[in-house]
Amino acid sequence: MPSVRKLKLPGPRGKAILTRDERFMSPSYTRCYPLVVDHASGMRVWDVDGNEFLDFTAGVAVCSTGHSHPEIVAAITEQARKFIHMAGTDFYYAPQADLAAKLAQITPISGPKRVFFTNSGTEAVEAAFKLARWYKKRPRMLAFLGGFHGRTMGALSLSASKPIQRSGFAPLVPEVTHVPYPNPYRPPCGTARTTGTECVRFIEDVIFHKSVPPEEVAACFVEPIQGEGGYIVPPDDFWPALKRMLDRHGILLVVDEIQSGLGRTGKMFAIEHTGVEPDIVCMAKGIASGMPMGAMVARESLHTWKAGAHANTFGGNPIACAAALKTISLIEGGLMQNAAKVGAYLRNRLHQFALQFDIVGDVRGRGLMIGMEIVKNHETREPFPQARDAIVDSAFYHGLLIIGCGESTIRFCPPLMCTTKDVDLALPILADAIRHAAKKRWSSPKVSRARI
Ligand SMILES: Cc1ncc(COP(=O)(O)O)c(C=O)c1O
Repeated sequence: MPSVRKLKLPGPRGKAILTRDERFMSPSYTRCYPLVVDHASGMRVWDVDGNEFLDFTAGVAVCSTGHSHPEIVAAITEQARKFIHMAGTDFYYAPQADLAAKLAQITPISGPKRVFFTNSGTEAVEAAFKLARWYKKRPRMLAFLGGFHGRTMGALSLSASKPIQRSGFAPLVPEVTHVPYPNPYRPPCGTARTTGTECVRFIEDVIFHKSVPPEEVAACFVEPIQGEGGYIVPPDDFWPALKRMLDRHGILLVVDEIQSGLGRTGKMFAIEHTGVEPDIVCMAKGIASGMPMGAMVARESLHTWKAGAHANTFGGNPIACAAALKTISLIEGGLMQNAAKVGAYLRNRLHQFALQFDIVGDVRGRGLMIGMEIVKNHETREPFPQARDAIVDSAFYHGLLIIGCGESTIRFCPPLMCTTKDVDLALPILADAIRHAAKKRWSSPKVSRARI
C-alpha cells in the first residue's frame, strides 16, 4: 500500500540496475524518476526493493485493463502454447482475421473498412501517411502545433510537440504544414484565436490563401485530445468546422487515437464525442494491454494499394492479437463505462484543487484522460514546469506514479479499472505534493525535465 511515509528510492537493488542501465542504454530515453519495476498487478506496481506504488500512468496510457489482468495473461499463454509467430504479412491465422473484423466493427467510420496492423503508434501513423499519399496522389499534409504522432521520419515530420524531438534530424519528410490547435485555456501564439472555428478559418483564409495550395493536400492529421502536447481538449465547434473545411477541399481526415482511443475517454474512440466521422483512424497504446501492437483502420474505398505496397514482419503478431481481442472484450464489458464514471469523479476532485491552490490552473479531459496544468498563478496562467516536475517527483517518493506532458501539465491516465477508492488513496499524496510545491521558495528557474 502506498503511504504518506517517504520512500528511500532507489533502493540497493534498484541502484544496481540503474548503474547497468546508465552504462548501456541509449541516452535518448526520457525517464522521469528512478522507478525500477519488479512486478505489477491491477493498479499496483512493486519495485525491485519491495516498494509498492499506486499507478496513475498505466505505463503511459497502455495497460488499459490493469497490469497483468489474469484474463489477458491467460489469452497470451494460450496463444503462446499454440504458436508465437507466423508472419501475418505472408500467411493467414485466425487471431489476426478475428481482430481485424472486431476493429472494423468498433472503429467509428461508416461503411466497410480495412485494417493494417503495426507494432507501435508511430508505425500506424506511417501507414496512414503512405495510404493517404497513395490514394490522393497529393504530396502535402496538414498537422497541428503541439501535436505528437511518433518518432519515425514520417510521423516525426507530422509532430510539432517539442523541438528536441526534431532537432538534428532534418531534412524531414517535406511539405508538412503545422497549423494552430485550438486551446481554450491558452490561445495559440498568444492570439485571440480561442474558438475552434477561428483556428479553422485561419487555415483556410491564411495558410491556404498565402502558402499551401489545398488541392495538393492529401490529409490532415489530428489528435482528438492532444496527448503529449498537454492533454488539451479543443472546443466543440472545432470539429464540425474542421470537417466541413476538409471536405470542401477533398482532404482526408486522419485521427490519431493512439493515446485517446480504446475506451480511455469513456467512449471507444475520443472522436465519438465530437459527432465527426474520420476517414482513417490510428490506434495503438490501449489496444492490447501492453503487448506491442498498433493498427491503421481506413475506409475500404481508400485501400486501393496493391500487394507489396506496405507490409511488415511482426504487425498483427498472434499473441498481440489474442491480447487485443481479450482487451477489447473487457473494455466493452464495463471498463469503458468505468472510465467515464471514475474519470468524472477524478476530474471533480481535481477541480477542487484548482479552487484550493493558486498553482493549479486548468483541469480538463474526458474519461480517464485528464490533464492538470501547473501555473505560476491563476491570474497570469504562466506555465510553471519546475513546480510540475517537483510535484511529479514528490508523488513518486510517496508511492504515487504520475507523469507530466506538455510544458507544465500533469497527466492522469490510469488503467481503466481504476476505482474511486484508488482516486481517494492517490489524492492526499498529490495534495501534499502540490502544497509543498506551492510553499517552496523557487530560486533561478532550472531547465524543466519535461518528458518526451
Ligand atoms: C497521439 C500519439 N501518437 C503517436 C504516438 C507514438 O506511438 P509509439 O510511441 O507507440 O510509436 C504517441 C505516443 O506517445 C501518441 O501519444
